[in-house]
Amino acid sequence: MNTNQPLESLKTSGAVFFIFGATGDLARRKLFPAIYSLYREGKLAQDFAVVGLARRPRTREEFRLDVHTSIQEFCRYSSDSIEDEEWLTFAEHFEYQSLDINNVDGFRELCVLTEELETKFNIPGNRMFYLALAPELFGSVSYNLKEGGLLESAGWHRLVIEKPFGYDLASAEKLNEQIREVFREEEIYRIDHYLGKEMVQNIEVIRFGNAFFEPLWNNKHIANIQITLGETVGVEDRGGYYDSAGALRDMGQNHMLQMLTMIAMEPPSRLLPEDIRDEKVKVLRSLRPYATSDDVKNNVVRGQYTAGEVRGTELPGYRQEEKVDPNSNTETYFAARVFVDNFRWAGVPFYIRTGKRLPVKTTEVVVEFKSMPTNVYLGQKHKLEPNLLVIRVNPMEGIYIKINAKKPGTDSQIEPLAMDFCQSCMIGINSPEAYERLIHDATKGDSTYFTRWDEVATAWSFVDRIAAAWAENSGDIETYPAGSWGPKATEDLLAKDGYFWWPVNGQDEDNVVWIKNH
Ligand code: BG6
Repeated sequence: MNTNQPLESLKTSGAVFFIFGATGDLARRKLFPAIYSLYREGKLAQDFAVVGLARRPRTREEFRLDVHTSIQEFCRYSSDSIEDEEWLTFAEHFEYQSLDINNVDGFRELCVLTEELETKFNIPGNRMFYLALAPELFGSVSYNLKEGGLLESAGWHRLVIEKPFGYDLASAEKLNEQIREVFREEEIYRIDHYLGKEMVQNIEVIRFGNAFFEPLWNNKHIANIQITLGETVGVEDRGGYYDSAGALRDMGQNHMLQMLTMIAMEPPSRLLPEDIRDEKVKVLRSLRPYATSDDVKNNVVRGQYTAGEVRGTELPGYRQEEKVDPNSNTETYFAARVFVDNFRWAGVPFYIRTGKRLPVKTTEVVVEFKSMPTNVYLGQKHKLEPNLLVIRVNPMEGIYIKINAKKPGTDSQIEPLAMDFCQSCMIGINSPEAYERLIHDATKGDSTYFTRWDEVATAWSFVDRIAAAWAENSGDIETYPAGSWGPKATEDLLAKDGYFWWPVNGQDEDNVVWIKNH
């Protein structure tokens, strides 16, 4: 597949989808519902099959029932009843095979089953291997796919893999080498599900499709940019994984930096996957590295939640969570002041923060424009607030812009006005889930919203410096009560530049007049 073809020419083609980890949480919550939505929207015709793979024995009927239950629970389309003709036609495409991924014989059996399915559904040999598995297993699965003959069909072969892609640069390189022994880079689709989110994809359109914003998108007009990825949940049942990862690796290296690249990248010369990814990687290369431990101390905050109370419910501290070391120094929160050292962004701080057990579930980007001069005309008499462009990614999807306007009927009072457009609140809008887009894109061979190896590696180099400085001072972690906005030091990060975190979702902005479509 030549990924430099214009995207319009990349048509969805029938394929067999292999879901490794088919009895796991990701398959249940995201993958089966995504496949069903694509089917309901006609993006999958009848020339497809799904093979669920996991160690656990399961009959085909049990598996189909699992798929039905998952769709009922998590899909944005309600499923047909299990006896309906339509459901039976869809379910007919699902098969299950119990597989020990270290045993190549199982892969040979899988190859036979696949050829049967390809004949039955008239699929032209296209195969997508989705590894919803721990990364340690990626290497052996890839190797056995090849040994088992699964890469010998006439169509395309694509490997879709989930994060975490490594623990640091060294382990990511090792992982990459193992996979690359079998698959070419253009056959590898590394998922960062934030790139599948409607509003993250919309950033490009807002930036490059509007004369309002494009000319202002630089250090002459923008004062700072704030990116918040807040979660109300704790570590749930993932304490084991999370305690060895922490917020920096779980959210920072991937989702956070990917969003930053979408905000900061130059316009690509062509709308092609590789051109867009080239621009993103240039941003990552321009990130100013933290040269010393003191740099890290002065620019990065790490925190861990302690017990707290949210809306009358008592919540445990991180160290009391299941499968977490009671003396753990793993961060559940991090914030950083980051600079992109290129001509466009020189001198503009990007403040990024993410954490578990914050007061609100939200993903939001605030672009704060430079203030009007205070010593001329209106600025002499009035306190003019800076203009904001706020991109709401999740759970609300939309944007709002904040401007200054005259208060009607008064002589000369000025007040901030926010024009708030919530696209997900509109009746009839049912945005596709990130996984739907990403599976659909991978099927079409469109790798735009997947991370390329050089992006992953450059992001790790940046993050590794922070992790190394933290490792030197491992006891040096701040705390915050569950349900609060993180350690106090996060406020100081902005205060020393004369800024503050804007309230998320415009909450508490009482002085603002809101004009909303919701
Ligand atoms: C995952 C992280 O990648 O993203 C989780 O591993 C986190 O810890 C999740 O909860 C957040 O995703 P979303 O789409 O709910 O914001």
